[in-house]
Amino acid sequence: MKVDVLVGMQWGDEGKGKIVDFLTPHYDVIARFQGGPNAGHTLEFDGCKHVLHTIPSGIFHPATTNVIGNGVIIDPVVFRREIEALKKRDLHPEENLLISKRAHLILPSHLLLDAVLERSKGDAKIGSTLKGIGPAYTDKISRNGIRVGDISNASFMNRYDENKRHHIQIASIYCDHPLNTLLHEKSFDEYEKQWIEALEVLKMYRFIDSEYYINQCLKSGKRILAEGAQGTLLDVDFGSYPYVTSSNTITAGVCSGLGVAPKSIGKVFGVFKAYCTRVGSGPFPTELPDKTGEYLRDHGHEYGSTTGRPRRCGWLDLPALKYAIMLNGISHLLMMKADVLNELPEIKLCTSYKTGDELSDQLTFEALEQKITPTYKSFKGWRTSLDGLIQYDQLPNALKTYVGYIEEECGVRIALISTGPDRNKTIVRGLLP
Ligand code: GDP
Ligand code: IMO
Ligand code: MG
Repeated sequence: MKVDVLVGMQWGDEGKGKIVDFLTPHYDVIARFQGGPNAGHTLEFDGCKHVLHTIPSGIFHPATTNVIGNGVIIDPVVFRREIEALKKRDLHPEENLLISKRAHLILPSHLLLDAVLERSKGDAKIGSTLKGIGPAYTDKISRNGIRVGDISNASFMNRYDENKRHHIQIASIYCDHPLNTLLHEKSFDEYEKQWIEALEVLKMYRFIDSEYYINQCLKSGKRILAEGAQGTLLDVDFGSYPYVTSSNTITAGVCSGLGVAPKSIGKVFGVFKAYCTRVGSGPFPTELPDKTGEYLRDHGHEYGSTTGRPRRCGWLDLPALKYAIMLNGISHLLMMKADVLNELPEIKLCTSYKTGDELSDQLTFEALEQKITPTYKSFKGWRTSLDGLIQYDQLPNALKTYVGYIEEECGVRIALISTGPDRNKTIVRGLLP
């Protein structure tokens, strides 16, 4: 067997959570491989809406095992909140959730550092979710991190204190009284107290050597889907650096974030919106700071699932989509939120970038550094509701033309079209998993 992968193709929030939940009945295991509580994955079904941050989006299917892989970073406070919300829905995550011992912990002092460092950047701020992501991954890479498997170690609290002291020292360079910084509306002491209490909840879960578990599952013929967080254009290597997150969000991240060999990667599903959004700072060539952008934000309810911040909105960017297809080895494209475009008389699609007199369809280093002007192809809108449509053939011709053009340009089939947030509002073309 191989590990199938699902990744975001844009700047995150493409609708990954909805699709993982939709595909879960076809899989035995759903595994997150990177990111942490900066993610907000929304699932909707039976009239209920649920947002997950650390826990994989297969958790609502009790027969499926969910794994938080070694590449993920965990804040016990957020984890506990997620568990409590699941329990309110009569779920028993202790029965189908496993956590890698090698996953790193986000400490309260990582949140403190995130806040202080971001503030020190002034206008050049990243627009981080301030969940401690950058500082926690920094400690991982500089070999100072503390892992889930360390929690049961007698020296755990000593190491915690040492790291905290070190973080506060760094924060003091940027700010006179770092401990006065509020962490998500709480004082440092309050957050730390909650964090230590939340460790007890984390400890109730099974800590595993997830690389052995996943490879054993592969050997025994189990079907695995790796769930990505964020999106390709937020990847630390290939995104619009420095306005990125601190992990590899692309398919390659599955190998290091779960311990899967490259030859064991199977299908790769690339999730993209029929338009683009971005939350936080950084380049966004097709951004629409006008009435159409507002229309997309209002009709698409484009407000962050983690922070509630308004998302910046714009037209679909084909050069960026092609870049993401190349980096991830996408086998199937999945198009989300087609319904948001329902009422627009005209839909535009960026086909290339213009710099001076030169046209290019590559998202090069320079393209991300300097001012580029997108060139657009215009499409007629379909101006009708997609409600109740369940097959591709039933879709309006104008939408099929839009889909056909993207497929032709990208050389990859659009295998699924999502027409609403609910699990049921999903049109599949042929076989997916
Ligand atoms: P994720 O981070 O990729 O899982 O995406 P988010 O959950 O942050 O954001 C996607 C938002 O779009 C959520 O509010 C979803 O409920 C919603 N959504 C997903 N698919 C569709 C769709 O096809 N149409 C509409 N209108 N909303 C959708
Ligand atoms: P999901 O999984 C959208 C963005 C932040 C910021 C940058 C760095 O829901 O798609 P960080 O908190 O990682 O230091 O923030 O990345 N960002 C996301 N944007 N969706 C996400 O996750 C994101 N996770 C981080 O807004 O611009
Ligand atoms: Mg999200």
